[in-house]
Amino acid sequence: MKIFKWGILATGKIAARFAEAINFCENAKLYAVASRTEEKAASFAEKTDAEKYYGSYKELAEDKEVDVIYIASPMAQHYENAKMCLEAGKNVLCEKTVTLNSAQLDELIKTAKEKDVFFMEAMWMKLLPAFRKAKEWVAQGRIGEVRAIKADFSNLCPYDENDRLFINELGGGSLLDLGIYPITLACEFLGYRPKEIISNAYIGKTGVDFDASIVLRYENAYADLCCGFDMENANPAYIIGTKGRIRFPEWFFCSQKVMLYDDNGILTEEFYDPHPCNGYEFEVRHVMSCLERGLKESDLNPTAHTSATQKIADKCRNDWGLVFKGE
Ligand SMILES: NC(=O)c1ccc[n+]([C@@H]2O[C@H](COP(=O)([O-])OP(=O)(O)OC[C@H]3O[C@@H](n4cnc5c(N)ncnc54)[C@H](OP(=O)(O)O)[C@@H]3O)[C@@H](O)[C@H]2O)c1
Repeated sequence: MKIFKWGILATGKIAARFAEAINFCENAKLYAVASRTEEKAASFAEKTDAEKYYGSYKELAEDKEVDVIYIASPMAQHYENAKMCLEAGKNVLCEKTVTLNSAQLDELIKTAKEKDVFFMEAMWMKLLPAFRKAKEWVAQGRIGEVRAIKADFSNLCPYDENDRLFINELGGGSLLDLGIYPITLACEFLGYRPKEIISNAYIGKTGVDFDASIVLRYENAYADLCCGFDMENANPAYIIGTKGRIRFPEWFFCSQKVMLYDDNGILTEEFYDPHPCNGYEFEVRHVMSCLERGLKESDLNPTAHTSATQKIADKCRNDWGLVFKGE
């Protein structure tokens, strides 16, 4: 069995969760971690049992032993960090939202192709068993034709001027941090090319969107989506069809449970599959499976999908007049 040597670039909150998942997977090894400072890198390596640590991202990108790098820096850093890793010939899994805008993303996709390496946005939702089950039910025609998606990702985050979520220069705001999940859900079930995108947002005092609502209009279907830091919701999601509906009961993007209802609203099937670790193990395994199969893109989350959702985010921000500094 090949053991894949993972590198983690940046040592914040999600990096720690992802490290747990790597350590959980039998054919994965957390080989090296990198931070902007050596102290942080050393402390993170100790906590996560990483074999090596680096006090700069560049050293990680240049380590010949690394099979794949997971990028967990803030949104505004993804482009520069991913470009460096891809140019060094590394396979890359980059956190969502993968870049600030489509121009940056196109450049990364081009670089990955030129270097003939794997590149994927870490949209872990699509790899979770409950999400896959919903896809299977829809493919089997269990709810007829999909006519609407309703999804919300609202997560109360107390205001903190030092938190990347509120910082314009770091690509903060609810759209790129949270909204990308409901957008992806809608696209996955209604298609990646909506006819019309109508949105509005509350731009808070730091010049990023504190909440947003988005409608994606299709020929005979629509998606009604929202996201925000300034309120907490249970965050269910519905996939509504001509013969029934599917419900993710709460926190849809990481749900372990999904339910199927018929057209009388009667629950006909329930799927529950508790995560063996923390949910990120499905993403770790998926990436390794792609690499084993020699793929340069994920077959469940190809870059064409990422490009399409990034374009939707671009259109929303453009309509709101929200520009990131240095973009
Ligand atoms: N998949 C998910 O479920 C999920 C959940 C949360 C977040 N995310 C995504 O993961 C990424 C990171 O989120 P997070 O919540 O882990 O953020 P975080 O806790 O703020 O950590 C970000 C890390 O990035 C590094 N960094 C590089 N340049 C930086 C800069 N100029 N300012 C601040 N930090 C900088 C820092 O690590 P060093 O100091 O070690 O260099 C920092 O610890 C985002 O893209 C976010 O959307 C995904």
